[in-house]
Amino acid sequence: MKNKRLLASLLALAALIVILLAYQAYDQSKQKNSNANTFKLGVLQYVSHEALDEIYRGVKDGLKKEGYSGKKVKIEFLNAEGDQSKVQTMSQTLVNHNNDLLIGIATPSAQGLASATKSIPVVMGAVTDPVGAKLVKNLKKPDGNVTGVSDKTPIAAQAKLMKTLTPNVKTVGVLYSSSEDNSKSQVEEFKQKAKEKGLKVSEYAVPSTNEISTTMNVLLEKSDAVWLPLDNTIASAFPTVVSAAKKAKKPIYPSVDTMVDQGGLASVVVNQYELGLATGKMAAKIHKGQKVTDTPVYIFDKGKPIINKKVAKTLDINIPAEVLKSSAK
Ligand code: TRP
Repeated sequence: MKNKRLLASLLALAALIVILLAYQAYDQSKQKNSNANTFKLGVLQYVSHEALDEIYRGVKDGLKKEGYSGKKVKIEFLNAEGDQSKVQTMSQTLVNHNNDLLIGIATPSAQGLASATKSIPVVMGAVTDPVGAKLVKNLKKPDGNVTGVSDKTPIAAQAKLMKTLTPNVKTVGVLYSSSEDNSKSQVEEFKQKAKEKGLKVSEYAVPSTNEISTTMNVLLEKSDAVWLPLDNTIASAFPTVVSAAKKAKKPIYPSVDTMVDQGGLASVVVNQYELGLATGKMAAKIHKGQKVTDTPVYIFDKGKPIINKKVAKTLDINIPAEVLKSSAK
């Protein structure tokens, strides 16, 4: 009798232990699953300037729109501060931390990520010339682990606006960074489109932000206006460009609204926030299972004219009514 009772309690104890162990295992696997459901995203921004910050804001909202907010997404965000060696080490860090997908905001960071991994999907955030930057071979059918969003500035429309607003401009100085692949193709295109409009173009390439001030002095002596591509180095030191042009009383035609706001005269621009939004949404879709090879590069190439009226006034520039009507500001 006694033995029987002991046996029963032992059996009950054993059953309890089995139940407890099973529950523990269940709980662990539940936790693992919820971790597996968290989208681990690595973002590398090349440098801080308003346009790229605006793109990153759009990226986060794009993810949210696709259901990735709160615990559903864990973003590891790094900023290379315009330093090429940081681009390399930070790209490697984001790969080593086993992120599911990587976003590179601006060309140099997308290039850094693409060379750090051939397996983790890389989504380009606002890369002007993905083919020229050797990030994809075919925009419609990417064949590696890289796809994304391209900001193809409407350069022909910019050259046209320049002719309309400042018909007396004969020579245009183009300032850009010699190390950015994104700028090279834009400068080539601008040269061609400006030539068609009868403008003479001179190029001024700088190796870093340190040379901007002295280069601007030479440029302004020899040119009637300044044109700037979507160049990260120039964007990150834009106040230097503005103060030089202001002194010389010559107009700056940048390629982005944030730089028009900060003292440029006018441009035809693509919305930076929307670029980010599209980048975030694309990243989300790929995380949900869409293949990179089935995700063509999304190209923004239709811009809106925008004019800084305050700058126009200080330069005594008349804005024709039809330009004013169609412009965003
Ligand atoms: N398109 C740029 C690149 O390929 C990045 C960029 C986006 C940018 N918006 C900008 C650069 C505005 C300067 C200003 O790197």
